[in-house]
Amino acid sequence: MAGRYEIPRRTVLAGAAMAPAMLAIGAAGAHATESAQTVHGKVALVTGSSRGIGAATAKRLAQDGYAVTVNCEVNRDLAAGVVREIEAAGGRAIWVQADVSDPAAVRRLFDENDRAFGGVDVVVSNAGVMRLAPFRDMTDADFIRMVDVNQKGSFLVLREAARRVRDGGRIIALSSSITQLRLPTYGPYAATKGAQDMFANVLAKELAGRMVSVNAIAPGVVDTTLFTDGKTPEQIAGFAARTPHGRIGEPSDIANTIAALCRGDGAWINGQTVFANGGIV
Ligand SMILES: NC(=O)c1ccc[n+]([C@@H]2O[C@H](COP(=O)([O-])OP(=O)(O)OC[C@H]3O[C@@H](n4cnc5c(N)ncnc54)[C@H](OP(=O)(O)O)[C@@H]3O)[C@@H](O)[C@H]2O)c1
Repeated sequence: MAGRYEIPRRTVLAGAAMAPAMLAIGAAGAHATESAQTVHGKVALVTGSSRGIGAATAKRLAQDGYAVTVNCEVNRDLAAGVVREIEAAGGRAIWVQADVSDPAAVRRLFDENDRAFGGVDVVVSNAGVMRLAPFRDMTDADFIRMVDVNQKGSFLVLREAARRVRDGGRIIALSSSITQLRLPTYGPYAATKGAQDMFANVLAKELAGRMVSVNAIAPGVVDTTLFTDGKTPEQIAGFAARTPHGRIGEPSDIANTIAALCRGDGAWINGQTVFANGGIV
């Protein structure tokens, strides 16, 4: 029985009726009948998942029952290693080398996912690069690279996700807490991450009625080469000291947050930027 202010479930879930397991990832929002973490027959595609946050997310979603498409730009061995780890733990995964800044490559990435697994329920637009310099020293090449991968690349991935994610699914884009910290040398990078907040909020509205929740996740500092490269141990310790929890983040901290949004009872968080940063902001 629908509540007073609800669209009858029959209307919004017409397409989902043939796939009851979809409730597991929240097609019915507050009505989800299954809040267990393990899903069946669901598929997740995670860009930039050969290492770092993406690799942790691919492994965590596989642990939760998703078949996973792993993606890399250059590190094929690492991507293959993530797939081997998932398979060794009893999961299903493929890896696809595709540069997210190339529209044809992004279409092929989704095509290969669909060929292997028949569709997609969760897309995590995670691939990213960071180049730091004060404005006066930032090169054209570094600026363009960040815009190409982080902003254009994520747009291409989210566009494909908007076209292909099944009803009741999830779309997640990696933003950053740097949009609030706003530190010197981070300006152009932070701008490409702020774009993710806008992408997620607007796309959530565009997908109204399909029970797809779209969010941005904004990690703080996380122990990956993207963050640690070029920093001294003292600088890294400084970030840990600024964090109320007394450490910098691990990739698993972010993977856990993403997994929580993907669960059935995470559906109500929609169109938001979720800060997962140990309290640094
Ligand atoms: N680490 C942090 O402190 C932090 C904080 C806030 C937000 N973030 C965001 O979180 C995301 C992941 O960061 P991370 O720290 O895990 O980075 P990372 O360890 O450097 O890993 C980056 C991943 O992205 C892939 N990638 C890079 N360019 C690509 C392209 N053009 N096409 C496809 N894949 C590409 C890499 O593939 P290859 O291995 O093939 O190069 C790798 O798998 C990024 O969007 C980043 O902005 C990170």
